[in-house]
Amino acid sequence: MNKLLTTLFALGVACATNLAQAQAPAASAPAAAPAAAGAKPAAPAPAPAGAKSIEAKVAMCIGCHGIKGYQASFPEVHRVPMISGQSAKYIAAALNAYKTGERKHPTMRGIADSLTDQDVKDISAYYENHGKDGKTLADKPSREPSPQVAALLQKAACASCHGANLSKPIDPSYPKISGQHADYLFVALKAYKADNNANVGRSNGVMAAIAKQFSNAELKALSGYVGSLEGELKVVPESKFR
Ligand code: HEC
Ligand code: HEC
Repeated sequence: MNKLLTTLFALGVACATNLAQAQAPAASAPAAAPAAAGAKPAAPAPAPAGAKSIEAKVAMCIGCHGIKGYQASFPEVHRVPMISGQSAKYIAAALNAYKTGERKHPTMRGIADSLTDQDVKDISAYYENHGKDGKTLADKPSREPSPQVAALLQKAACASCHGANLSKPIDPSYPKISGQHADYLFVALKAYKADNNANVGRSNGVMAAIAKQFSNAELKALSGYVGSLEGELKVVPESKFR
């Protein structure tokens, strides 16, 4: 009970802080004029006219990616991917792939289309550090795979790209996958195999060639193992300032 109260109180404070930040640009706008006229510059630099705060930019994302256990129902019911703690370069690459249609998922295409290049940059940088707790993930996975899964991992050399613990990719534009929701990983892997579907598919050549080597049952076994590992990805719920 005490814990609940503390949490509620913390949320209240976070909410008030968000409100204060959300209102800051409006409040500091009139103050910018005297600053320009030679008075002492105001401490926080006023945002350029028309610039949105990062809170405003991610407000839309929180409704799905910031809710623990939130499920999407297309193309089958699965939890939405965790993006907090994912690397910025990969988030940007994924958003741009939705924009160009290389990734066909209709909802994320619509959302990515509404973002400017600057939004993509700001949002990706924000989520990379979102919820970071300063802990370093060990190189050794938190669980050993079954012999069957070990053979599958070896067959396509997953760690040669996704890195130690499948969470230290060799290139920052490749995703961290350990600890990601298993049901999402399965949907994502199947999407790399999908051809000739208007609404489902990812045309990334590297992963398409890899996913096509496996049956769906094998992809499911891989997803179950990868999702069961400790990783750096998180859902960080946020109070909404409505
Ligand atoms: C209506 C729910 C919803 C909203 C709102 C939403 N997303 Fe998504 N997002 C999803 C789903 C579902 C997927 C999985 C799509 C797929 O299978 O390719 C996804 C995928 C992603 C991915 C790819 C993750 C990965 O591991 O490849 C990124 C990055 C992403 N979203 C970022 C965002 C950002 C940034 C916003 C806000 C500007 C946002 N999303 C808003 C539901 C949502
Ligand atoms: C040659 C390098 C390479 C290898 C080997 C590789 N991957 Fe990938 N993987 C990538 C890249 C690059 C992406 C991002 C593709 C994109 O932008 O959609 C990716 C994406 C993924 C995704 C989607 C993640 C998400 O958040 O949507 C999953 C799941 C995945 N890989 C699992 C695996 C598994 C399991 C293996 C081994 C069976 C493997 N990969 C082997 C390079 C590789």
